[in-house]
Amino acid sequence: MGCQCRSNEELQQLVDQAKKYTNKGKVADYIPALEKANPEGLSVAIYYPDGKGYCAGDVSGKVTLQSISKVLTLALVLMEKGEEYVFSYVGKEPTGDPFNSIAKLETNKASKPLNPMINAGALTVTHMVAGDSVNERFNRILHFIRELTQNPTIGFNEDVARSEYNTADLNRSLSYFLKQHKVINEDVENLIELYSKQCAIEMDSQDLARIGCVLAMNGKDQLTGKQIIPGDIARICKTFMVTCGMYNASGEFAINVGIPAKSGVSGGIMGAVPGKCGIGIYGAALDEKGNSVAGIKILEMMAKKYSLSMF
Ligand code: DON
Repeated sequence: MGCQCRSNEELQQLVDQAKKYTNKGKVADYIPALEKANPEGLSVAIYYPDGKGYCAGDVSGKVTLQSISKVLTLALVLMEKGEEYVFSYVGKEPTGDPFNSIAKLETNKASKPLNPMINAGALTVTHMVAGDSVNERFNRILHFIRELTQNPTIGFNEDVARSEYNTADLNRSLSYFLKQHKVINEDVENLIELYSKQCAIEMDSQDLARIGCVLAMNGKDQLTGKQIIPGDIARICKTFMVTCGMYNASGEFAINVGIPAKSGVSGGIMGAVPGKCGIGIYGAALDEKGNSVAGIKILEMMAKKYSLSMF
């Protein structure tokens, strides 16, 4: 399914203005396959509860979810295992550290990762996805994401998944640390395979905006009337997006933009404007904290122009 949204002149102007910031960032290279991305590509999509979608920029560009997937696996395990179980293994506090930091795992008693958006917390959450094999567990994540986007063609980028799996030694060390402290209890290679595939799930900005819209509307797909995520769990996800969705730039982002959002090192950003709409962005050049540099600029401009801030 290609991009179905209508191109929009106002959005195109924002893309044109933000494009000059793409050369202020760099594409992620710690996963070799991500280095192939075009640093100048930029797209934005907005999706409304009534099914109307608008977009601008390089809308055919596909982005792997990377850390954006952390919000979705969190929703899935909260639906399956419940709040009490999930939060007995992972905390609810922002860290102020980079996404892949190991530091707080050692200083925090019980070695409980501080939140599900840092890698240690996300690995703990992915560990909880039920199933008898990596394939079965991955298919459950994929099925959930296809339901959220209403797009049955969504798959994963094998090249990116393999590239992450082959180079994920920091995530392996976080996982072994968590295993030693009994936060997880599975084969680390299986967990890294599942997590790498989850991060490599691929879509366009419009699909990102559709998921953002479901979260914005408290977990309900307004077109089909289906409550895909219980309202309370959508609330928890959005709250994490505000407090830790943009990593150690979350405070600045809350002031400058003021919407729940989640970024990934591929340059994707998924935004959920409560009660209003979802936003999807893809701009591969990243700032030093791992967020899309031009993507943040577009969101700052949109927040001002359309009064999006929830604060
Ligand atoms: O764990 C990793 O390294 C990645 N696959 C996901 C990290 C990520 O997207 C962090 N984002 N800003």
